[in-house]
Amino acid sequence: MHLKFLSLTLLTLLTSVSASQPNPPSWPSSVKVFTTSTSSDIDSAITEAYSNNGGSPLTSCNNGQFSSSRYAFLFAPGTYNSNVPVGFYTQVAGMGRSPYDVVFDGSKGVYAEEGCGDFQVGSLDTFWRSAENFHTKSNEAWAVGTGMTWAVSQAAPLRNVVVDNDLLFFEYTYGDAAGYASGGWGSGLNVGGEVVYGSQQQFMTRSSASKGGFGTPVWNGVFVGNDGEMEERCGTEEGGGHVSVKDIGRIAEKPFIVTDENGEVFTLIIPDLQESPAAGVPYDEKGLKGGVTEVDFENVYVTQEGDGSKEINEMLDQGLHIVVSPGIYNLEESLLVGDSQVLLGLGLATLIAPSSGDPCVIAKGKGSRVSDLLLEAGPYATSSLLLVSGDDVVVTDVFARVGGPTTGVGPVGSMFDIEGSGTVVDNTWLWRADHVAGDDGEDVLVRNSDNECKNGMVVRGENVTAYGLASEHTIEDNVVWEGEGGRVYFYQAEIMYDFLGDEWEHSCLRVGDDVEDFKGFGLGCYSYFRDADGVAVSGVKTGGGEGVVVEKAVSVFLNGGGGIENVVNDDGLSVKEGTQTAFHC
Ligand SMILES: *[C@@H]1O[C@H](CO)[C@@H](O)[C@H](O)[C@H]1NC(C)=O
Repeated sequence: MHLKFLSLTLLTLLTSVSASQPNPPSWPSSVKVFTTSTSSDIDSAITEAYSNNGGSPLTSCNNGQFSSSRYAFLFAPGTYNSNVPVGFYTQVAGMGRSPYDVVFDGSKGVYAEEGCGDFQVGSLDTFWRSAENFHTKSNEAWAVGTGMTWAVSQAAPLRNVVVDNDLLFFEYTYGDAAGYASGGWGSGLNVGGEVVYGSQQQFMTRSSASKGGFGTPVWNGVFVGNDGEMEERCGTEEGGGHVSVKDIGRIAEKPFIVTDENGEVFTLIIPDLQESPAAGVPYDEKGLKGGVTEVDFENVYVTQEGDGSKEINEMLDQGLHIVVSPGIYNLEESLLVGDSQVLLGLGLATLIAPSSGDPCVIAKGKGSRVSDLLLEAGPYATSSLLLVSGDDVVVTDVFARVGGPTTGVGPVGSMFDIEGSGTVVDNTWLWRADHVAGDDGEDVLVRNSDNECKNGMVVRGENVTAYGLASEHTIEDNVVWEGEGGRVYFYQAEIMYDFLGDEWEHSCLRVGDDVEDFKGFGLGCYSYFRDADGVAVSGVKTGGGEGVVVEKAVSVFLNGGGGIENVVNDDGLSVKEGTQTAFHC
């Protein structure tokens, strides 16, 4: 009797304590909140992060690629003269209601250089970083163009940025050519000069505007909901496949954090889910043009060092939104995100799947939001790394990997399992690692189907939309789409490198035979059968039906043996040694 009474009191006490969180929150040391009055601390913090997780391409090559350090640099409204190089596992975010509220007026401003000066490596491994919500006046003269450089590949989104001059998505340092680049994502870009893709093999550009116009990526450029369209083209002679779709469908911008100019009071902004908003940048000088829900940080829990999944789930249980601080979390159970709840990572916060075999995250609530996270397989069998089971869930800048910093992980069924209807996936990269960190700091190539993962994404929900989808090196189909009403705007996939047979019986994208309504815009399937002369029959496989439409697709032979015989079903030429690209127009 007595004991029961005690525990009940304790429970009540705990509930009331954690229901109201402090505002400002207590930020762990992996988060730096800068204001114009703390500007003296900025350069040393940035330099330290960049020396751990980055470095100049002239003096280093992909330093920090598998680092365990994570950083978020958050800037309160004001003007900053700092130049901010962005290395691996680093996020730079302005905290104004509008990107115009945080201004970088240094010559380089916020920028990402290619990770490696050797042009054949260039930006190819320049992954896992992000920058968002600011205005840059950068006027640096780079080898080609003047302004901001963001020379990255996948999992390195640039969102809601005003660029006064040019925006360069690649970098030339020295030697025969500009560094290779395999991106990428840009949205909400309002560019005064030109957008130059240079060596970018493929790129997704959404809800943006450019006074100087958009250039063209090499093989596959997809432009959705932009103000000012680019020229469409399709075919090897025409110089690639480029799709421009004016009407954007269902979309919600990513949740983000705002504060006052002293960095004292914090608010979580949750942008509304919209159906077909107007083309162009989604904000003006006052903030987002669409509706938002504002949440005082009294209702937001910021994870603290040492928190595990039990602590985080308790907070979710109480109805709090969660900001996952930069760090690596070895989960003991799935994080369960309920109705309209937000799970927002900072600084590429990394969740390692629990040993139970359950996903890192289950988005089970209607309208929940999962953003800015890196989901990673652990050394045990796991069904999926993310399960979306609720309807109208929006997944933004969530990346997954099987292998990389470690080997001996998996097997994983599918990195993403999408069962909920109306799901929006806004930029992802699902990577079964082709290389992992070796003991001596050198990359080690993955062979023999190690770190097994069957699929990148399996969609069973209806009316699922993906903008900026990339899935690489899975053992079977990179993406399986079984749900009706699917829309894919930009897809990039690489077939596994370490296949050992003759015919790889799968495809980069398989739309179920029974599916009657599916539209894909700009779908790319690339082969590098490194370890055998493998052949894939079709990059993309679909059933029949008038409602199944693929608008521009490309096969690319990157290297190795074998190749891909058809682009979509039995249409399109084959790619192999000597024939690099083939298109379905
Ligand atoms: C998917 O969209 C179609 C067309 O708008 C609609 O009829 C259908 O009910 C939707 N499905 C679900 C499960 O919401």
